[in-house]
Amino acid sequence: MDKYLHIFRQIPLPTLLLDPSGHVLDVNECGKALFPSLALGEQVLEQMALEIDQFLSRPEPHQVLEKRLDVRNGQSRIFRVRMGRLFTDTAATLTISTSGETSRGMVLTFTDITERRRHIEEISRLASIVDCSEDAIAGISLNGSVLSWNAGAAKIYGYGKEEIVGRPATLFIPEEGRMEFCAILRDCAMGQGLVRHESTHRNAMGINFPISATFSPVRHFDEIMGISMVTRDISSRRRTEQQLRASHEKLTSLLNETVKSLSTAHEKRDLYTSGHQQRVAALSVRIADMLGLPFDLVDSIRIAGLLHDIGKVCIPMALLAKPARLTNEEMAMLKRHPEAGYEIVKNIPFPHSVGDMILQHHERMDGSGYPRGLCGGDILMGARILAVADVVEAMSSHRPYRPALGTDMAAEHIADKAGTLYDVEVCDAALSLLDDGTAQEVLSCPLCRT
Ligand SMILES: [Fe+2]
Repeated sequence: MDKYLHIFRQIPLPTLLLDPSGHVLDVNECGKALFPSLALGEQVLEQMALEIDQFLSRPEPHQVLEKRLDVRNGQSRIFRVRMGRLFTDTAATLTISTSGETSRGMVLTFTDITERRRHIEEISRLASIVDCSEDAIAGISLNGSVLSWNAGAAKIYGYGKEEIVGRPATLFIPEEGRMEFCAILRDCAMGQGLVRHESTHRNAMGINFPISATFSPVRHFDEIMGISMVTRDISSRRRTEQQLRASHEKLTSLLNETVKSLSTAHEKRDLYTSGHQQRVAALSVRIADMLGLPFDLVDSIRIAGLLHDIGKVCIPMALLAKPARLTNEEMAMLKRHPEAGYEIVKNIPFPHSVGDMILQHHERMDGSGYPRGLCGGDILMGARILAVADVVEAMSSHRPYRPALGTDMAAEHIADKAGTLYDVEVCDAALSLLDDGTAQEVLSCPLCRT
């Protein structure tokens, strides 16, 4: 008996030995620590029942979890003992036979389940978040079968949890996307962190739909136990994107047509420079491309090229078509066309500074241009390009007061004036285009001959 008594005392859980009526026969060391005021012979079952009643009557959220059970039937119950910690007790009936006499009793052991309860509550809270999510959240095993499936997944894919758990995840992947899907699962299984991608999945009705998905490995300590997949149906977003793209294309087309109409309207009036703006625009685009400017800036330079002389609508036709040298007064009037052009387009919400490019297309790097006499870096790159394209086109074309001078002379002119009148880099690009014949091809394009 001494041996068993020693074992009883050393059990690492608080343990009480009770007689059949619930009086304490013995308490081990842990039990004394848990119930320091407990005395031998004390009736603990009634006392504990009272304690449980008091606990259950408190307005605390824990009480919904508690259940009073009959300890005499060997069932467990949970109660708060000290310092707010939760314990569960387990009762066992015990029959001891000594010296031919049989005595019955109970063993009560207590286990601290505070941490376990916290974990259960945390898991329950997370499970509730997963269940309430509008996104599909699924657990996938390392061999590719579905382990878990939330309500969002059931709604998006149309498979109930009971229909899909245990089946291959490729069930909702169209054949053409399976290789990529399996590669993502492999990457996650190998430990790659978050993998995001957009793809196409298939619902239970066999209908494909676009999704945005996030895959990540599910770890237990250092071991990867599976893969979590969070997907969102982006059909609605895709439809909106398509509508926006269509609307943008329509607006761009409308803008292009408007610019073209404005450009043509002016050139119909001034037949001597017919097609000039379109050729300047085409050559400017080639120069801008060669300089590696961003696409949207190149497009703004194209628009500015198409409209750079629009201000000439304010200049009398007789002056524009005069087949002789202009007087100082006439020249002053002609020099007002960049500002007039700026005034015409300034309220049109073009991207970049189309209006300023038009305003500055006769400015020169050394400050000798007009209307402001701007120098170097104060002149927009778009305007510097227009200036070179404008002079190359003008020298290559016939004018009322002179015949065409030709592209060779234009090349000589810009090579000579690079760094003084014109931007060096722009001249280099234009000379390169003139050298390989691209500029001549652009300037003679039938589409630019209206
Ligand atoms: Fe001009």
